[in-house]
Amino acid sequence: MTSGKTTHLRRIRYGLWFLVTIAALVIGGAYFVRTIGFREPPSVTTGEAAIRSELSLIDHNGNRVTEADFLGRWQLVFFGFTYCPDVCPTTLAYMANVLDRFGGEVEQVAPIFITVDPSRDTPEVMAEYVQAFHPKLVGLTGSEAAVAAAAQSFRVYYEKMEEETAPDGYLMAHSGHIYLMTPEGRFEDVFREADQSAEDMATDVLARMNGK
Ligand code: NI
Repeated sequence: MTSGKTTHLRRIRYGLWFLVTIAALVIGGAYFVRTIGFREPPSVTTGEAAIRSELSLIDHNGNRVTEADFLGRWQLVFFGFTYCPDVCPTTLAYMANVLDRFGGEVEQVAPIFITVDPSRDTPEVMAEYVQAFHPKLVGLTGSEAAVAAAAQSFRVYYEKMEEETAPDGYLMAHSGHIYLMTPEGRFEDVFREADQSAEDMATDVLARMNGK
């Protein structure tokens, strides 16, 4: 049965190629998520409906807060850490600039900074940090698990990375998007500091707040 044997060998060969292809796709996919997922908004890949505001954290005054405390206001939410050398201070200064352009309507906005480095970013550290940017900015921290849960609900990526030159020998890699959530706590949009001027972002957000 020569032909049967050949078919059998061919099947094994196809089977092996199939496995190699699957392995390549898995490895390539993981690499893609690791490198691209870092910068791109999660909304692009997972769908807006997947992003929710769910949190149970401690604010910079030491009060326990949940997403319910921010309902009724438009929320600008940014994840980062106070030891961040670049993205966080730049983005928070930008957010402060946006807030200053809201005029009286700033009362309808809750700007929120959630740390992804809670072991160093205690409420006291957060208080000093957020107040340096804007009096309205609320800093949130909590246990590692509580922070991870909040990041998961917003589909925010972050990861501890060893870095010899950084304080304590590490940095927190994290996605750099500002989330705009509606007063009902639903996802509205994401913004990046580099993508538009503070004036343009303020105009865009105000138009949505006023239903335009
Ligand atoms: Ni940062």
